[in-house]
Amino acid sequence: MNNVCAKVIRAENVNFFYGQTQALKNINMQICANQVTAIIGPSGCGKSTFIRLINRMNELIPHARLEGKIYLDQQDITDPSVDPSEIRKMVGMVFQKPNPFPKTIYENISYGLEVNGIRDKYFIEEKVIDALKKAALWEEVKNRLRDNALKLSGGQQQRLCIARALAVEPKVILFDEPCASLDPISTGKIEELILQLKENYTIVIVTHNMQQAARVSDFTAFFLLGELIEFGKTQEIFTAPKDKRTEDYITGRFG
Ligand SMILES: Nc1ncnc2c1ncn2[C@@H]1O[C@H](COP(=O)(O)OP(=O)(O)O)[C@@H](O)[C@H]1O
Ligand SMILES: [Mg+2]
Repeated sequence: MNNVCAKVIRAENVNFFYGQTQALKNINMQICANQVTAIIGPSGCGKSTFIRLINRMNELIPHARLEGKIYLDQQDITDPSVDPSEIRKMVGMVFQKPNPFPKTIYENISYGLEVNGIRDKYFIEEKVIDALKKAALWEEVKNRLRDNALKLSGGQQQRLCIARALAVEPKVILFDEPCASLDPISTGKIEELILQLKENYTIVIVTHNMQQAARVSDFTAFFLLGELIEFGKTQEIFTAPKDKRTEDYITGRFG
């Protein structure tokens, strides 16, 4: 299936609980470098929970508990001795609703660099410009870098959030339904961008939109009630699913 690619993320026997509720059930999954992996499945099946584990975002939730391991390259990122902020530098995240800081366009990107201890303002400026270019936003904002980011359209705000994630040079970018609040044109731009980004990053995208998964992803994972039902090449999942439940979902019979 995907045995020839380099595995950047490996989830091994992952179970996750919110108190008594088990949100993930024995997930084993490997994610290929420089590929787009889509996670699909009906609401509440654990998609967000799973990707939030990849950058240690679930651990502040009271009574939440993880079993199993997640490796980023060779490092077990579930190890409590690993600093979550180190993981988040390597694993960026973009959310369903664009969430820029209520600061200038420029500061939205420079902030993360400053937090990481970078002081050289020329270096920071270079990185800001570079991140905006990589996020396909530069041409639209180059003359208004000091404007408040909240003045941007939703689609531009989402690309700004992508630029913000890119600026700290992650290895992996997690997208949790990044187009859910966007119009079709803005959605198209984000999809195009994701296809460009996979050259340099490993991408995991949660999406409700089956066409989107088919358009942007190389691999697809189908989750149902906390279980990974089927995982494989996107083309195979969409044309010849092996599991009846996958078939029912992709043909719109439920979800
Ligand atoms: N912070 C939380 N506290 C308690 N239960 C949660 C929390 N977040 C999610 N859940 C539950 O975990 C399950 C999986 O949720 P989630 O990962 O958000 O699903 P999805 O992203 O596929 O819609 C759901 O039953 C949801 O209600
Ligand atoms: Mg979700």
